[in-house]
Amino acid sequence: MIRYLTAGESHGEALVGVVEGVPAGVSLHPADIDKHLARRWLGYGRGGRSKFEKDKIHVYSGVRFSRTMGSPIALRLDNAAYQKDRSGWPEVMAVEGAGEGVEKVTLPRPGHADLVGTQKYGFDDIRPVIERSSARETAMRVACCSIARQFLKQLGIEIGSHVVRLGEVGYARAADWRERVEALLVDGAEALYRAADESELRMLDDDLTARGIEHIKAAKEAGDSLGGVYEVVATGVPPGLGSYVQWDRRLDGLLGQAILSIQAQKAVEVGDGVEAAARPGSLVHDPIVREDGRYRRQSNNAGGVEGGMSNGMPIVVRGYMKPIPTLIKPLGTVDLATGEAQPTRYERSDVTSVPAASTVAEATVALVLANAFLEKYGGDSFKEIRERYEAER
Ligand SMILES: Cc1cc2nc3c(=O)[nH]c(=O)nc-3n(C[C@H](O)[C@H](O)[C@H](O)COP(=O)(O)O)c2cc1C
Repeated sequence: MIRYLTAGESHGEALVGVVEGVPAGVSLHPADIDKHLARRWLGYGRGGRSKFEKDKIHVYSGVRFSRTMGSPIALRLDNAAYQKDRSGWPEVMAVEGAGEGVEKVTLPRPGHADLVGTQKYGFDDIRPVIERSSARETAMRVACCSIARQFLKQLGIEIGSHVVRLGEVGYARAADWRERVEALLVDGAEALYRAADESELRMLDDDLTARGIEHIKAAKEAGDSLGGVYEVVATGVPPGLGSYVQWDRRLDGLLGQAILSIQAQKAVEVGDGVEAAARPGSLVHDPIVREDGRYRRQSNNAGGVEGGMSNGMPIVVRGYMKPIPTLIKPLGTVDLATGEAQPTRYERSDVTSVPAASTVAEATVALVLANAFLEKYGGDSFKEIRERYEAER
């Protein structure tokens, strides 16, 4: 099984990650990781550090001559904010000293980890909470999970995503985008992400993109922020990944956790989960047919998962992101130093990060699918795994 740990503060020197359990012999180039790190910066309305931060992965172990060795893969990503001349972050985040002259942060922002994190860990300064709860951590997550993604790709399993709603602007129902997505999926789910990446909002529809940009401009003008919904799709997934026999082996449960583990993601849907709850069963369940000796479904409302297992159809998962909590328009809070009511203070922040979150979700879904695949077809080397997989197919 592939597991990983990340470490690092948002404005510390660097983020680091260790990925363990990747089979030997998977083709891996740093550029495969950098490509997805760059996609994490996509999206109109992103401000702040996205303007100057360009992520470049450093690989320290576990890879030799562009192939994994089965040993742990150690990764580093520098935080450009820390490196910038006169940034002040080396002093604010100093490993040693007592922080003389460093201003404490005492106004917790509603919607962030600030208040409870400060109480839980016994700080008198919110800074340590902000630093680790920030979504900057997702950069290293994308890097770690991109390795699982490379593994899947070499087995013909591809992952893509697109944004289906930004605040009030979105498709009315899944049927409105399904045909467009299915046409792209004929070439594999990477065709979906490439098409979505063409849009500033990662939306497949030009009219929705234009309206979404106006919506973001208006939210910015009003000092507000926006959430939204995206869809992640995986193609080439064989039937039988995951299991119904135990709660913690159900693929849908694991996919849900993967999405909800990302900062600010507050709901998740497998297939047409939300719409299906309002429809009769005859319009929900996907009829089974047999074509050319294979079982298929006439539709994919289930999103490729039945009974906690992949059923051979594309896996479809949607994530729902709350609006970003850092607002220009102040919210009410309380100064932790004085106990007095105060308005929140604005720090440069995105208006929305839904397009970026959709790329992070692709990565976290990749890890779940890679592990479900390894559970069924696992081995120590890529060759061994591929032979086992092809023999069964
Ligand atoms: C890719 C991404 C980028 C984000 N960018 C910001 C940001 O610029 N400003 C902000 O206040 N929150 C941002 N967030 C959201 C916060 O990380 C999140 O709201 C916060 O961690 C609290 O959410 P939680 O309750 O789910 O942890 C971002 C989230 C993601 C996934």
